[in-house]
Amino acid sequence: MAEVEVLSDAAIVIDGDRIAAVGPYKDLQRATGNVKRGREVVEVSGVVYPGFIDCHTHAVFGAPRLDDHQRRALGEDYKTIAAAGGGILQSVRDVRARPEAELEALTRARLATLLAHGSTTIEVKSGYGLDLETELKQLRVIRRLTGAQPATLVPTFLGAHEVPPEHRGDRAAYVRLVCEEVLPAVAQSGLARCCDVFCEPGVFNPAESRAVLIAAKRHGLALKLHADELEESGGAVLAVEVGALSADHLAAISEAGIRALAGSDTVAVLLPATMLFLGKRAQAPARRLIDAGAAVALATDFNPGTSPTVSLPLVMALGVSQLGMRHAEALTAVTVNGAAALGLAAERGQLAPGFAADLVVADVEDWREVAYWMGGNVVSAVWTGGLACPTCAPPIS
Ligand code: NIG
Ligand code: FE
Repeated sequence: MAEVEVLSDAAIVIDGDRIAAVGPYKDLQRATGNVKRGREVVEVSGVVYPGFIDCHTHAVFGAPRLDDHQRRALGEDYKTIAAAGGGILQSVRDVRARPEAELEALTRARLATLLAHGSTTIEVKSGYGLDLETELKQLRVIRRLTGAQPATLVPTFLGAHEVPPEHRGDRAAYVRLVCEEVLPAVAQSGLARCCDVFCEPGVFNPAESRAVLIAAKRHGLALKLHADELEESGGAVLAVEVGALSADHLAAISEAGIRALAGSDTVAVLLPATMLFLGKRAQAPARRLIDAGAAVALATDFNPGTSPTVSLPLVMALGVSQLGMRHAEALTAVTVNGAAALGLAAERGQLAPGFAADLVVADVEDWREVAYWMGGNVVSAVWTGGLACPTCAPPIS
């Protein structure tokens, strides 16, 4: 993760939506000099990175949750607020009631802002519906925005994000409903590529999470897991056991969890902005995970309750200053490893021949600056699929 190849005076040749060649400007100019016709040359100053990959967001939501924010400031914690009907369930009431077109307009603007901060591939979860109709409504919004804006979207079904109010008295019935009715219908719709579960004491326990994940696997979905976020409950070990692409959060991961991830292909997705926004001192043990041999990715966890940030560069800066990662490790974490957390490592996250022509330019002198200007936006241009994107960030609301 600490090995980054940095070229000076470099050029990138793009053919269609793929990178054809990368190397010293002079060499590539010589090699491509005889194919001038139809070739557009764009001079760029600053640093060009692979497009960033935000492998964990909950970007389809309605209103921000300002009351939760204030209640936490005054000393209530995330789980107390959730138990009192705030938290995820507040966003569920909102998303159920909000017209689909409005949800789509809000999400479109938010994706544009994520893109303006360099995220060219964005995983987006459902999970604020918690019934078939509303989960499909969120997934349809993601589907319609795929191809209707420049970023590549990876849709994830998160029907087991929380137990909805109508099943509060019978959790087992809700898990059965997800496994036997909602999941099959979602898989049948073709609207989701992955399935995620919030495995956490008080939300879904490992047995319930396993049931949902195994059903999802049977239906051909790739797996992800919110694991060991606030309390350890064997989530990381479960993610490895079921062959998940990633185990996410991990601020409370056990030694056994670290060992399991280190010995597997499951990516450890760390979300430092979340712990910061929740006012927690704890952070995931990035150093121990990396040193043990786990693949670590970083993501925003962009959502209205615990992480309303749209900036992967901010998350990279937190990776360095809060998690003890090297700049190179933070960059690998939002490119190569972010791609691996979505099963896309063979085609995204690298500036190399054959990879998607998704590029981010930052107007900086040293490549490490992208993980340094905390909270500022150094991204000056973005290309996706070989095409330049408009990068002015619309205001977010
Ligand atoms: O990743 N942990 C569970 N889900 C989200 C929070 C979603 C919310 O509070 O709305 C997370 O932090
Ligand atoms: Fe999350």
